[in-house]
Amino acid sequence: MRGQSRSGLSAWRAAAIGAAFGGAFVRAIGAFAAGPDIVPRVTGAAQPMQDVPAPSPARPITDDVRKMRNYPEQPPVIPHAIEGYQLTLHANRCLECHRRQFTEGSGAPMISVTHFMDRNGQVLADVTPRRYFCTACHVQQTDAKPLVPNHFEDMLAVGKSRR
Ligand code: HEC
Ligand code: HEC
Repeated sequence: MRGQSRSGLSAWRAAAIGAAFGGAFVRAIGAFAAGPDIVPRVTGAAQPMQDVPAPSPARPITDDVRKMRNYPEQPPVIPHAIEGYQLTLHANRCLECHRRQFTEGSGAPMISVTHFMDRNGQVLADVTPRRYFCTACHVQQTDAKPLVPNHFEDMLAVGKSRR
């Protein structure tokens, strides 16, 4: 349990060691910053085991605008709602629109040729089993604020500033 000495040290020795090392540690931390703001949101509560209110879930972006890919092999992100879409061994809601046979009626972009290729590069008549579970690669975006800053640079921009 928290607060108990797990190592079997006597309480006094534990306290003495704790004072020596803990003091140095606290001073080191204190040198960098003070106040609860330094706790990154990913680590949870400032006080361990403290209750924190659950943040409301982020809303998926469903504006139907196809997003630019950040690099050519990126699986495009899903720009529409997928809530309630069944994706099981027996039913694949995604393919009811994105399969080659159905794109004329649905207006959805067809799964590209790589989705028909087995691991030997052989093009099959229908989607390959290794691309069957679409959401293993394709994800929605949400309006959640990023937890950490992102300094991603497009490959077209990389190195340009040095020229
Ligand atoms: C009712 C038809 C329909 C269903 C079902 C559907 N989609 Fe779509 N999807 C579309 C259409 C239409 C677009 C084009 C953009 C838009 O209108 O939202 C699209 C766009 C996409 C794109 C973006 C393609 C690109 O090049 O940017 C991805 C990825 C995608 N869908 C994946 C999925 C996945 C994964 C599922 C299942 C969870 C799914 N879709 C289910 C109709 C559908
Ligand atoms: C193993 C990862 C993976 C899985 C699983 C997968 N995709 Fe993709 N998908 C990709 C990648 C990577 C691309 C972009 C490059 C390419 O076309 O291969 C892509 C591209 C697409 C595109 C854009 C095609 C185009 O020509 O612009 C659509 C639409 C799409 N996928 C739908 C689906 C659907 C629907 C499923 C489920 C049946 C699915 N994908 C399963 C990785 C995946």
